[in-house]
Amino acid sequence: MKRRPPHPPPAQPAELLTPGHWLQWAVGQYEHHDLALGQISDNAHDEALYLILRTLDLPLDSEPDVLDILLDAAARQALRDNFTKRIEERVPASYLTKEAWLGEHRFYCDERVLTPRSYFLELIPTLASHLPRGTPVREVVDVCTGSGCLAVLLAYEFPQARVDAIELSDDALAVAEINVTNHGMAERITLHASDLFAAVPPRAYDILLSNPPYEPSAVCETLPAEFQHEPRMALDGGKDGLVIIRRLLAQAIDRLQPHGIVVLEVGALKTTVQQTWPRLPMRWLKTQDGMNCVCLIRAKDLVEHGKF
Ligand SMILES: C[S@@+](CC[C@H](N)C(=O)[O-])C[C@H]1O[C@@H](n2cnc3c(N)ncnc32)[C@H](O)[C@@H]1O
Repeated sequence: MKRRPPHPPPAQPAELLTPGHWLQWAVGQYEHHDLALGQISDNAHDEALYLILRTLDLPLDSEPDVLDILLDAAARQALRDNFTKRIEERVPASYLTKEAWLGEHRFYCDERVLTPRSYFLELIPTLASHLPRGTPVREVVDVCTGSGCLAVLLAYEFPQARVDAIELSDDALAVAEINVTNHGMAERITLHASDLFAAVPPRAYDILLSNPPYEPSAVCETLPAEFQHEPRMALDGGKDGLVIIRRLLAQAIDRLQPHGIVVLEVGALKTTVQQTWPRLPMRWLKTQDGMNCVCLIRAKDLVEHGKF
């Protein structure tokens, strides 16, 4: 929904009679309390609007005049409850609404998983262009699947492919199962309870994708409260942030087709990754915000590099 000119600012929550009143009040609260963003949106207006619409069970593409409807007491109480938790306890908006959206796709989520947000939303549609022309994509794996969101996006993108989704946390796997079922993908996506590939039958993948935990442990301690609500296991990449990535690259050598590719989101670790493996050819995929923190590594280069 597009921004619209602000309504006159009511001072107290008791006077917040319309979604528009709540929106203006909430944006001020986000700034006043310096709430951390980045889980649902990178700006306070859009996150507050999201939380208002979804608390009221209204679609995200509602017409702007929805901001002028008069709310009944129950609706106002629901908004008061959610904004109190968001502001005072710093609970991520996604855990309050029990959902997050990647593009047009809705994913169930709660405290057991990282809130779905990933550069792979824009990159998955480009992945086939990195394979030899005409290569059918038959076998795909999402390692560290969490909510299963990326496995589901892969299954949509590659309708002929069988998708494996690997996750160590039983809690996260329970959420992934909900999403796989909600998206009607149970026939196509196989969930594996496994420490990386340890319990996954051998298979040669065309595409191995992963958004693994990559924050250095010390950084995890300093993350804003909103991110501390997320499972530590979803964020903590060990002392240098590379503990899971190092093991994953070593195991990937035996899990790829000769033409296969690995695509790995590494966040702020791009320089660390480049310095750690200076002789490993990797391509950094361009993303709209210019972060370019997803690298692509070819199977033959992994094999030649050998040890990790
Ligand atoms: C950054 S989250 C990514 C979740 C999801 N792919 C996404 O993009 O929203 C990383 C996930 O890896 C899982 N994980 C951590 N260590 C793992 C391991 N050794 N094997 C498999 N999964 C692991 C965590 O439980 C968490 O769900």
